[in-house]
Amino acid sequence: MRIVLGVSGGIAAYKACSLLRLFTEAGHDVTVVPTAAALQFVGAPTWAALSGRPVQTDVWTSVHEVPHVRLGQDADLVVVAPATADLIARAAAGMADDLLTSTLLTARCPVVLAPAMHTEMWDHAATQANVVTLTERGVHVIPPASGRLTGADTGPGRLPEAEELYAVCQRILAHHHTDSGARSGTDGAPAAHHAVGPLAGRKVVVTAGGTREPLDPVRYLGNRSSGKQGYALASVAARRGAEVTLVSANSSLPAPAGVTVVPVQTALELEQAVTEAAAAADVVVMAAAVADFRPREYQRSKIKKTHGPGEEDHAPTVELVRNPDVLAGLVAARGDAPSPVIVGFAAETGDDEGSVLDHGRAKLARKGCDLLVVNEVGESVTFGQDHNTVHILRRGAEEVVDAGPASKHDIAAAVWDAVQSAL
Ligand code: CTP
Repeated sequence: MRIVLGVSGGIAAYKACSLLRLFTEAGHDVTVVPTAAALQFVGAPTWAALSGRPVQTDVWTSVHEVPHVRLGQDADLVVVAPATADLIARAAAGMADDLLTSTLLTARCPVVLAPAMHTEMWDHAATQANVVTLTERGVHVIPPASGRLTGADTGPGRLPEAEELYAVCQRILAHHHTDSGARSGTDGAPAAHHAVGPLAGRKVVVTAGGTREPLDPVRYLGNRSSGKQGYALASVAARRGAEVTLVSANSSLPAPAGVTVVPVQTALELEQAVTEAAAAADVVVMAAAVADFRPREYQRSKIKKTHGPGEEDHAPTVELVRNPDVLAGLVAARGDAPSPVIVGFAAETGDDEGSVLDHGRAKLARKGCDLLVVNEVGESVTFGQDHNTVHILRRGAEEVVDAGPASKHDIAAAVWDAVQSAL
């Protein structure tokens, strides 16, 4: 496929290098069109070397080839990543003051914009109105991720990771080219900003990661959950059109595209965030590893090796208290209401008392949730790995859906398939 990769002038331009690599490694012909401002961040030689093609930077080079018209006309996909507030404004106004905006005006193929900017600029009514204008014209706008921005600030505005942008582009290309009778053009194509997919219109809450229960300012009780499975669940739900809130406990993973991340540390913070978000949710998926216990007391200053005279050889005793069972609390709060659908996770090992599935079924009955995703665990299995094997149990149903060994992304897809049939 012939792809035009537009790059506008934001710090996230460096991430477009990875996106370019993914396109070229998949065999696409990519012409990079950086704006003048983008060249301040990443220079033309980098784009030329990575794409293996000359870089088109302005309308005055190779004029005999009429690049400002030809590039857009010939493309199978135009993607702009990052798309700055300025680029979005110029595109919405239909301006053609440089090669990239001219290309956007002449393109009759799908057009994808991946905005990246500071939260204030993204939230501004002008930018939001421009995004609505563009999506109404059929442009696919990939919502920015939330997270750390250039400075110390955080919020919506991050360019999603290259793999996510690539996956969206591939999906749009595949959709466009299998859509029989589809005229080449942006009009009529589904816009990513207007949710489409089997979970469109659904609000979902996913928890991920592992809680940390502080002992003192430098120590905590924690667990080995990486958050990968929960993040994959949030990412797949967003791609299927859901409005996703990801309550993330201490994960260092990047925020998935289009997902609102609520960071938490402790079980009590997680409980509060989930309870608030669950009030309006259609589905709650509890993938986080929530600590069952926390230290009874938090020591405001660091616990010292020695506590006083004569105590040199003593280690302190830490007294624990029970944390609330968040999943059980959600089930109790729902009562007889049909919503939300509640999904629990269980890490199980088989033993003398029963198999992994026996323990899973007993836990499903005990917890009262609708679906239970049973992970088979053991030494070095599951935690932090990219692959997983699960059994999905449904309340009141005999059959078990087995998924894996597969990527956590594919496991997430299987879980959402099960949730969709339960909805
Ligand atoms: N969970 C929760 N609140 C807790 C502990 C766990 O909501 N305080 C949720 C987890 O997010 C997960 C499920 O409950 O969805 C796991 O159940 P849990 O009873 O914690 O399983 P185990 O720790 O394996 O429990 P047990 O010791 O009963 O086997």
